[in-house]
Amino acid sequence: MTNLLINVDHVATLRNARRETFPVREDRRHITERDVRLLKETVRGKLDFELSTDEEVVDICCATQPDLATLVPERRDEVTTEGGLDVRTHDERLEDVIARLFGAGVREVALFVDPAPEQIEAAARTSANAIELHTGAFANAETPEAEREEAQVLARAAAQAAEHGLRVHAGHGLDYRNYATFREAAGAHVEEVSVGFAVVARAVLVGMEQAVREMRELVAAH
Ligand code: PXP
Repeated sequence: MTNLLINVDHVATLRNARRETFPVREDRRHITERDVRLLKETVRGKLDFELSTDEEVVDICCATQPDLATLVPERRDEVTTEGGLDVRTHDERLEDVIARLFGAGVREVALFVDPAPEQIEAAARTSANAIELHTGAFANAETPEAEREEAQVLARAAAQAAEHGLRVHAGHGLDYRNYATFREAAGAHVEEVSVGFAVVARAVLVGMEQAVREMRELVAAH
């Protein structure tokens, strides 16, 4: 059974669109510290804190002690996370952040990486115990053939990570339409998926409860 995590940062992006409140990215442009505190108090399922390696954000994550911390790259000018971490060039700094997170009591630390063999190898050399595979290339594939090919790339990356004993999560651009294809081709080792934008966009039309229920049903069915 695959776990489904719902990314709520898009709700915060919408709320903050008019910049009337104080906007956890480095620039607080969606999730704020107050959101993090409220989520920690109210989320009954697994709490995943996605964060950059920015010192202050790492401090907030350590104080929050989520169930899972997912390290992502971030640049202020990107709309969402556009590519995975380049683990090969980050080694020392990344290792320090991973150690701090585990030291603060976070039990699972994942690296958000592209499904590239060299990134998986580099991730396996860190002390992170999970990866999240970036599914963007799969989600953006323009033809069914390209979609199948990208799904195979994900399948190979997931198998490679699992061989190293890493837990495998996946996310970015997964939606109500492409989830089944993703799961059937790439799913064997993927324990958890994170879906945000598709659910939040659908929630605007049908309400959050129904949008989440539909995605849960889809995940449970595959
Ligand atoms: N995983 C990570 C690491 C992300 O940064 C995002 C974007 O919030 C997601 C998953 C979810 O992607 P999407 O919003 O496209 O479903």
